[in-house]
Amino acid sequence: MSYQYQDHYFERAKKEHFLARAVYKLQEIQNKHRLMRKGDRVLDLGAAPGSWMQFTQTVIGPSGHLLGVDLQPIEHNFAAWVVTLERDIFDPDLVRMLERDYAPFNVILSDMAPKTSGIKVADSARSALLVERAMAIAETTLAPGGHLLVKIFQGSEFHEILLQLKRLYGKTRVIKPDASRKNSKEIYILALNHRGPAA
Ligand SMILES: C[S@@+](CC[C@H](N)C(=O)[O-])C[C@H]1O[C@@H](n2cnc3c(N)ncnc32)[C@H](O)[C@@H]1O
Repeated sequence: MSYQYQDHYFERAKKEHFLARAVYKLQEIQNKHRLMRKGDRVLDLGAAPGSWMQFTQTVIGPSGHLLGVDLQPIEHNFAAWVVTLERDIFDPDLVRMLERDYAPFNVILSDMAPKTSGIKVADSARSALLVERAMAIAETTLAPGGHLLVKIFQGSEFHEILLQLKRLYGKTRVIKPDASRKNSKEIYILALNHRGPAA
């Protein structure tokens, strides 16, 4: 598939008033795996500029709740059942707040990406740290039976992370969505049915 074809997603996002072409990756995963449902409580980590949130708010509807967190401000008018926070996911106060005020979540999404340096081992190591943090947040805020979707840059950390997820969740899937650029190292792991604290 050519780069030009991939750019079709960019044009499509503009036409369909989505904030980023990234939305089509989540849409594809949702259409195939139905990880989110009407009424779900969802946490979106690394949510800016907000295209995953635009899509998610329509899937969960007014009986659901969506919280988006990012280092960057998320500047968009979302529905009444959506809240945004401008925070670093490594901030321990943020995690306490999530546990106290927003948990439990049915689904946690992470499309987080580090600032890339172009040095593959450094970028995949930073991406892995973001995934490990998302996994740690999920351990204290995800409901038993809940689902976690994470983006990771493929590198030497990938297999250990996948193994950990297999231990903690009933089912895992490794996904390269069609809208993900073929020359990009990013890949998604969908971990379904969190086994809960006993795991
Ligand atoms: C690819 S973008 C997410 C796009 C988003 N899914 C959308 O559809 O609009 C990755 C985001 O991860 C965020 N990010 C990276 N490190 C973070 C951290 N430590 N805490 C919070 N957000 C972080 C970045 O600021 C960036 O906005």
